[in-house]
Amino acid sequence: MEGRWYLKALIQKSLSLVPRGYALNFLLQKRYGELREITVADKLEEIIELFAAPVLRKWGTISDIEIVEIGTGWIPILPIVLSLLGARCKTFDIAKHLKTEIVIRTLTEMRRHLVILTEISGFSLRDAERKLEKALEGSKVEDIMGRLGIYYLAPADTTDLPVASDSRDVTVSRLVLAHIPPSILPAVLKELYRITRPGGLSIHRVNLHDEYAASDPKVTLINFLKYPGWFWDRFVNNRIKYLNRARYPYYLDLFESIGFRIVDFHKTLDKRSYEALSNMRVVKEFRCYSREELATVGFTVVLEKPR
Ligand SMILES: C[S@@+](CC[C@H](N)C(=O)[O-])C[C@H]1O[C@@H](n2cnc3c(N)ncnc32)[C@H](O)[C@@H]1O
Repeated sequence: MEGRWYLKALIQKSLSLVPRGYALNFLLQKRYGELREITVADKLEEIIELFAAPVLRKWGTISDIEIVEIGTGWIPILPIVLSLLGARCKTFDIAKHLKTEIVIRTLTEMRRHLVILTEISGFSLRDAERKLEKALEGSKVEDIMGRLGIYYLAPADTTDLPVASDSRDVTVSRLVLAHIPPSILPAVLKELYRITRPGGLSIHRVNLHDEYAASDPKVTLINFLKYPGWFWDRFVNNRIKYLNRARYPYYLDLFESIGFRIVDFHKTLDKRSYEALSNMRVVKEFRCYSREELATVGFTVVLEKPR
């Protein structure tokens, strides 16, 4: 087994087993990881293209569109952007990751890049600045999010959301579905289907790569396909980071079996992984997939709940 990726996995697995492991992981992420530097500009562009554009294409505006997000995470960038664009958002996560200092850092950074949103029709820079100022005066996470017009609930059971059936224009997730075990994922997607209104959209950005391997230049982004399920679940998956390793055809079948119609689908193929597959042995459970399906490391899908 190559070293660096496994070291990272081992640290996270060990943290997941000790008391206060979540808190320790947060400190490590803040010092060395994803929370060390909060960048906003690139994510704003991505959110405009992948999440705002399909809504604008369908309704011509984001103002007053009712949105539910699942998987808020540590940096609630998606609901913040959608709310600054005028949407009414509710966001739910199975774990309460939001911390006041990170939300404040995100908003402060966002203030510097708001101009990016001026390309969206109907967006008022002045209103957004005012909203951000008001939010930055808040003290606790729920208060700050509330001032932005976002309802945040965590921990929440995303298979049984406190949201009426057929009531949301849009349901969304960003970098979440690959972290949900296959034993739960169908129930979560059925719940999103239940609350999305007929004619409404469900938009998801899903990463399919091995997040442990991403920082190890010796292995490819699909390194995890070399390990059998029992090994992966026992020695790598943990309550801090879980990766279901499913490939994109699994998701497409699932969306359609639940009743969603696929309106738009974009996938990202990793060339290095694709080439590596000519002499890489993937485990039995993934041999039913083509090389292209195996080496696809992410996708965005726009689904519609039929009327
Ligand atoms: C990688 S983070 C993504 C966070 C955020 N959406 C973003 O764009 O940065 C994945 C998040 O999904 C959450 N999550 C995992 N399983 C979930 C589930 N069944 N329902 C809701 N959220 C879940 C995790 O707690 C974590 O906050």
